[in-house]
Amino acid sequence: MDFKKIVAHCKEYGFIFQSSEIYDGLSATYDYGPNGVELKNNIKKYWWMAMVQMHENIVGLDAAIFMHPKTWKASGHVDAFNDPLVDNKDSKKRYRADVLVEDYMAKIEAKIKKDVDKARKRFDDFDEEMFKKTNGRIVARQEEIDKISNRLATAMTDGNMEEMYQMIMDLGIACPVSGSKNWTEVRQFNLMFSTQLGNIAGSEGKLYLRPETAQGIFVNYLNVQKSTRQKLPFGIAQIGKAFRNEIVARQFIFRMREFEQMEMQYFIKPGTQKKWFDYWKDARMTWHKNLGIPADKYRFHDHANLAHYADAATDIEFDFPFGMKELEGIHSRTDFDLKAHEELSGKKLQYFDPETNENYVPYVLETSIGADRMFLAVMSSTLQEETVPDAKGNDSTRIVMKLHPAIAPVKVAILPLLKNREELTSKARAVFDKLKLSFNCQYDEKDAVGRRYRRQDAIGTPFCVTIDFDTLEDDTVTIRERDSMEQTRVKIDEIAGIVGEKVAMKSLFE
Ligand code: GAP
Repeated sequence: MDFKKIVAHCKEYGFIFQSSEIYDGLSATYDYGPNGVELKNNIKKYWWMAMVQMHENIVGLDAAIFMHPKTWKASGHVDAFNDPLVDNKDSKKRYRADVLVEDYMAKIEAKIKKDVDKARKRFDDFDEEMFKKTNGRIVARQEEIDKISNRLATAMTDGNMEEMYQMIMDLGIACPVSGSKNWTEVRQFNLMFSTQLGNIAGSEGKLYLRPETAQGIFVNYLNVQKSTRQKLPFGIAQIGKAFRNEIVARQFIFRMREFEQMEMQYFIKPGTQKKWFDYWKDARMTWHKNLGIPADKYRFHDHANLAHYADAATDIEFDFPFGMKELEGIHSRTDFDLKAHEELSGKKLQYFDPETNENYVPYVLETSIGADRMFLAVMSSTLQEETVPDAKGNDSTRIVMKLHPAIAPVKVAILPLLKNREELTSKARAVFDKLKLSFNCQYDEKDAVGRRYRRQDAIGTPFCVTIDFDTLEDDTVTIRERDSMEQTRVKIDEIAGIVGEKVAMKSLFE
């Protein structure tokens, strides 16, 4: 579905609202509405269950957002958590220099795709890979992309801002707003938000809002290990808010200034990082695919340009409405963080290995996914417009969210056939009161039943239960399934079993 329609749907059906909308909004911050909070909580529950409940050796943590300021010096965020920033002197708009270059490469990639699509229409048994390898124009374009990509990776790794500026000039990149090439020099811009402790003046009292949840795990790793008597390998999982002063904050909830991360740090024996990197790549991809989202929406993208803490890294990219973009990161962080915290705090952060009788600082394998990006991935891939027959057999359009029942915001809707017949509404209320003990339910008596079905389809409710006059006679109801729209007659006592089997989180693991 078109991206603008998805954003409009999120507002209309109470999934996501612009923050402080009555004041014209605050850019890159969003609020989750009644259906949004349910869906987001279910995504978080699925992640927590997969990480903590399903692994004996992974435990949870909920660390504070504020941490001692030295944390961010040790982690490298004070010195190296920067984006290259450039201003256009005519439009006064600010950009990330690397994003300008990436957008330039994306345009060349779009040209390649256009040529491929054209060729596909011309040949019956079209071999895309062969065509890309042998078509002169495509080969030249791909070489150009590779050359720019390598140059960008080197400039970013070296923190070479003059080279970043030179790339913008050499590629002739113009400001998308003013169309001019009148750029300032490229400068480093630190992404951390800072605030001040009340009782300490000046730089001594400077605090940061955490830009990642991971550091709360690193500084607590020995507390957790000792209190839970874990042996390596073991993991610590955490879900919580993170804050980044993003320069280019756009694309709805994809890039926000306040967002939520679901991170897991896996503490391992040095030398085993390759094995665990491969293990977690596989495990995390399986987690995604079990949600029933088509496999071709995902791909791995190995990093050429490694962050300051990693010896290997890959992204799980997702086919968002605006292209393939990072959804989750899997990073082999070595002992960078723990060693840095040892040095700056003066406290030993070594693990005593009872098998080898050695003390050492463990290596860390990290999986890190944005809860909001996952929300957008689910929303954009499951929201569909379908042509279906209406009550008279004519074609009609319905908007339906075909998401896995286990993460649906509402599991079952209870609908009395008519709202002005007390015997029907009181029976429906009784069914609702019974089912709400087990599931998040909705009672709806307004409008014709067909319209009520459509409203539930639009928020992904897997089941609708209708109470009619036969119900009063024999305690049976019709239960309608969202995707097939099939309706079956069942006993009231059977509803909980039918719904329960489909919406249980465990169905995602079986
Ligand atoms: N601890 C490692 C870490 O923070 P990252 O790749 O910078 O790694 C991890 O972030 C994940 O957090 C990303 O894959 C993305 O899903 C999410 N994320 C990062 N910045 C975000 C932002 N500004 N808005 C929404 N989600 C974001």
